[in-house]
Amino acid sequence: MDSLNRHEDYGQESLEEGHLLDDPIAQFQAWLIDAEQAEIYEPNAFVLGTVDSQNQPRSRTVLLKGVDDKGFFFASNYLSRKGEALAVNNKVSAVFGWYSMYRQVLIQGTAEKVESRESDEYHVSRPHDSQVAAWSSTQSSPIESRAALDAQYDQALKRFEGADVPRPDFWGGYRIVPTRIEFWKGRSNRMHDRIEFVRTVGPDGSFGAWSTSRLQP
Ligand SMILES: Cc1cc2nc3c(=O)[nH]c(=O)nc-3n(C[C@H](O)[C@H](O)[C@H](O)COP(=O)(O)O)c2cc1C
Repeated sequence: MDSLNRHEDYGQESLEEGHLLDDPIAQFQAWLIDAEQAEIYEPNAFVLGTVDSQNQPRSRTVLLKGVDDKGFFFASNYLSRKGEALAVNNKVSAVFGWYSMYRQVLIQGTAEKVESRESDEYHVSRPHDSQVAAWSSTQSSPIESRAALDAQYDQALKRFEGADVPRPDFWGGYRIVPTRIEFWKGRSNRMHDRIEFVRTVGPDGSFGAWSTSRLQP
């Protein structure tokens, strides 16, 4: 476990206030494209944090499937542990860790189920086998064996053989609507750059303009 004693130098490339676009979503999109061009494996993977009814936080990786002015779109099983947590507490965190680029993006906000139409659109864009998989797994519930899981998949494959697979009503998209987005850039001597965008939410749910501050590393 050599890594435990390593002290990597994260380099000199800086992140200045003037380097960033005024719109943090556009800035995120630019960094995602950089991560794709750097050929980072699954550059759209992020760690989603939720808090359940017992106030217990839980994090897991999911894939970003869309990002625009409205927020960050991902898809999952609505009855999974994350789905249950989001049903009682829609506050979330998201971490994109592009470590080989010395970059990290931290997001806070709320996650809401997208409209059925949007989930349907995403569902039809998925490969047939992935659509079948959504039917075959009661995500986060225990199962007695791998063989039993494979049997569920085979059963669903047969059920939808040669047919369009409808979207299960227990599966679909969520959108993270951000209120805080931090861009982190590793620097030498652990003196990293951190620029955070924050926007306020009015009582009617309307957003104020984004403001930025530099945070200490
Ligand atoms: C790279 C990667 C991508 C994943 N993408 C998704 C995803 O998009 N949606 C999803 O529901 N689970 C995804 N998973 C599985 C989740 O990490 C997790 O095991 C699952 O969603 C159940 O989480 P929960 O029990 O906390 O609800 C992914 C896992 C990895 C490692």
